[in-house]
Amino acid sequence: MPQKFERLKKAKFLKKSSQKWLLRQINDPFVERARLEGWKSRAAFKIIEIDQKFKIFKKGKIVLDLGAAPGGWSQYAVQKVGDGNVVALDLLPVDSIGGVKFFQQDFLAEDAAEKIINELKTIPYNRIGKCDVVMSDMAANATGDHNTDHIRIIALLEEALNLTEQILRDGGFFVGKIFQGGDADEILKALRKKFAIVKYFKPDSSRKDSSETYLVASGFKSARLTDASKNVNKQ
Ligand SMILES: C[S@@+](CC[C@H](N)C(=O)[O-])C[C@H]1O[C@@H](n2cnc3c(N)ncnc32)[C@H](O)[C@@H]1O
Repeated sequence: MPQKFERLKKAKFLKKSSQKWLLRQINDPFVERARLEGWKSRAAFKIIEIDQKFKIFKKGKIVLDLGAAPGGWSQYAVQKVGDGNVVALDLLPVDSIGGVKFFQQDFLAEDAAEKIINELKTIPYNRIGKCDVVMSDMAANATGDHNTDHIRIIALLEEALNLTEQILRDGGFFVGKIFQGGDADEILKALRKKFAIVKYFKPDSSRKDSSETYLVASGFKSARLTDASKNVNKQ
């Protein structure tokens, strides 16, 4: 290991966990690539890989980005769908991203859904506040306890799905971060009732030592569509 990294490892002013995090950042090729290519986060590569595989973003589509800070996903999405068509929120502030309507908000707060819908309504020709893609990379700060972290991410994902059912257009996409194991398959089953195709996808840029993966769902069937097909089946 190069000398300066050895020194970093021994830096007494840093907690063990911070030393580990810094070392991982220094050795991570995606961190360096993100810096060189001007992405706001290494996370940008995950949504790029997801999009290459599932062809999610098209010009003119409307995107909601939940848990957007520091902004790599929004930055990529707005390049694909066009200025003004991405609404994004996070607990944390984000440095402005051209063409993205960002607001700082706790997604779990009671008024979050109403605020999001109002923001979507400000997009021209979108008076009812719908969108074509909901993507959630939300994750609460890790506690170190796998079960607690898993429960917290599932809670965020369930809320994201509740909102998705209200605001996604027929045929739309949902992308959500989840940890493997536990209740992940329950969420997968719930998604399969609402979407034509649902897949797990772990991008190469997602760290191998992390149980993080993504659920990618396409072909949303709104209640209007599923009720209509029930009526056809009854006849
Ligand atoms: C992995 S980061 C997202 C990275 C982002 N996709 C990017 O491209 O830069 C997860 C984010 O989820 C946010 N988050 C966690 N809980 C949240 C909540 N209840 N409401 C809003 N954002 C939340 C965190 O603040 C954090 O910024």
